Amino acid sequence: MKTYTTALLALALPLASALINFPSHQKFTKEMYRSGEVHQSIMAAKEATFKRNREAGLFDSARYPSHKGGRVKCKDGLAIVEKGNANQTFKCDNIDLLDFKSHADLGSSTGGGSSSWGWTARNGREFVAIGQADGTAFAEISRKGDLIYLGRLPQQSVPSQWREIRTYKNYVIIGSEAVDHGVQIFDMEKLLKVNPRKPVTFSTTDDLTGLFTDLPAGRTHNVVVHEAEQYAVAVGAQPRDSECLSGLIFIDLKDPANPTSPGCSPHDGYVHDAQCIIYHGPDRRYEGRDICYGYNEDTLTIYDVTNKSGKNASKIISMTTYEGASYTHQGWVLDPDWQHYLLLDDELDEQEQVGPAADGFPVTFIFDISDLEHPKLTGTYKSKAHSIDHNQYVYDGLSFQSNYGAGFRVWDVSSIPDDPTGGHVEEIGFFDIFPEDDHLENGGLIEFVGTWSSYANFPSGHILVNTIERGAFILKMQKFDKKPHGKHHKKPRNV
Ligand SMILES: *[C@@H]1O[C@H](CO)[C@@H](O)[C@H](O)[C@H]1NC(C)=O
Ligand SMILES: *[C@@H]1O[C@H](CO)[C@@H](O)[C@H](O)[C@H]1NC(C)=O
Ligand SMILES: *[C@@H]1O[C@H](CO)[C@@H](O)[C@H](O)[C@H]1NC(C)=O
Repeated sequence: MKTYTTALLALALPLASALINFPSHQKFTKEMYRSGEVHQSIMAAKEATFKRNREAGLFDSARYPSHKGGRVKCKDGLAIVEKGNANQTFKCDNIDLLDFKSHADLGSSTGGGSSSWGWTARNGREFVAIGQADGTAFAEISRKGDLIYLGRLPQQSVPSQWREIRTYKNYVIIGSEAVDHGVQIFDMEKLLKVNPRKPVTFSTTDDLTGLFTDLPAGRTHNVVVHEAEQYAVAVGAQPRDSECLSGLIFIDLKDPANPTSPGCSPHDGYVHDAQCIIYHGPDRRYEGRDICYGYNEDTLTIYDVTNKSGKNASKIISMTTYEGASYTHQGWVLDPDWQHYLLLDDELDEQEQVGPAADGFPVTFIFDISDLEHPKLTGTYKSKAHSIDHNQYVYDGLSFQSNYGAGFRVWDVSSIPDDPTGGHVEEIGFFDIFPEDDHLENGGLIEFVGTWSSYANFPSGHILVNTIERGAFILKMQKFDKKPHGKHHKKPRNV
């Protein structure tokens, strides 16, 4: 629990002592999280890595030529795009390359890839939004899997490496750490008519459907969308001593041209990332409630946000930490239709060498959330190459992880309901988009290089992987014609 202002102290402290029991081995103190010191240290480490690599030329994405076309099969553990060029030879398993475009060819003058998301139009055409330091690139994925650049929406204020993207219906929702940026709302239907021979740079005034500006400094670390309930959430909107304490700031999207905020949830202070969905699952007390799973730096914090008015209508259900907690970063429920388990990643435990990540292999934590008031860690699974784990999204029993320098990794997590220890979780494919570190001991660097995010929810099975240095890859799993799924994945049950 993080208590920020004296006004909230009375509300916050009883919860803190009642709900949370920090393990004694924890490296950082509550005060270091509360003050933002831990988050600042990650941001500073990333900035130093990005600066060093920018100076070394790694962000000059023109040095990574865009793909000339044709599927490059992963064979005997390698996808060879250019024979004899180590930088064009990718370690892989069960995943082929369909296309690649550098950030430069995706219209960026700065490079610096970050978040990304996808949208399937009513007629089945597939579009992607690719975060870059100087805006968002839009592209279509053709039936063959070619990535076709269509144009871009520049940043709203100044460039920033932190740009986060989700979709809401046919709109793309974009937030950034840049001061005075706000949250952009752009209608992707505008892309349906773009001629790829004439990519369009959209206007940040005339072409936006809406712009949400009611943030303390215009910056937000991430944006989250709950489409069914017609709202977005800005999380981690600094400064931390602002009235919502960088918690969940709700953005009503019923009229995307006029986004307004009904309220916020400051109760556990800074939220780094979240997933907000209607609860269906074993905990009958919360059936049908609007639940946000918050990844809050030192805890998994679960909120009931059914009532979003003001600053005190939503409630915290529980706050849970775990052995090795260093920076609780992001996660996703295993099955939105039956919320019994969730997967969580920690962004600092590999570098800090604590808990199960002490050996530098990225760890995913498995939580049983069948009692939302008392989530329990039931197991972990580990990647086989040294790196840091970043964003992971779960679709149909597979977890798609962007593991920085170790690349894009696919896990079959559909065994978890039968074996919550993670003992039967299997890595069923990977594509290592950052060959630069493959020669190192244990397969890679434990640094902020490589891939930030992916989008693997297209019905066709096309997968977008956005990378910090190079550009965007389109990949496809070999064993699936269409969207892949886990071995034990069951069709959604009716609840
Ligand atoms: C491959 O990339 C590394 C690091 O960016 C660079 O030092 C090296 O010159 C590149 N090699 C080729 C063949 O382009
Ligand atoms: C917030 O709501 C709780 C009850 O849900 C109440 O006990 C508390 O006094 C409220 N705090 C403030 C600051 O209004
Ligand atoms: C939501 O919370 C607000 C503020 O606490 C309260 O006035 C309102 O009645 C609540 N709405 C519902 C539907 O409970």
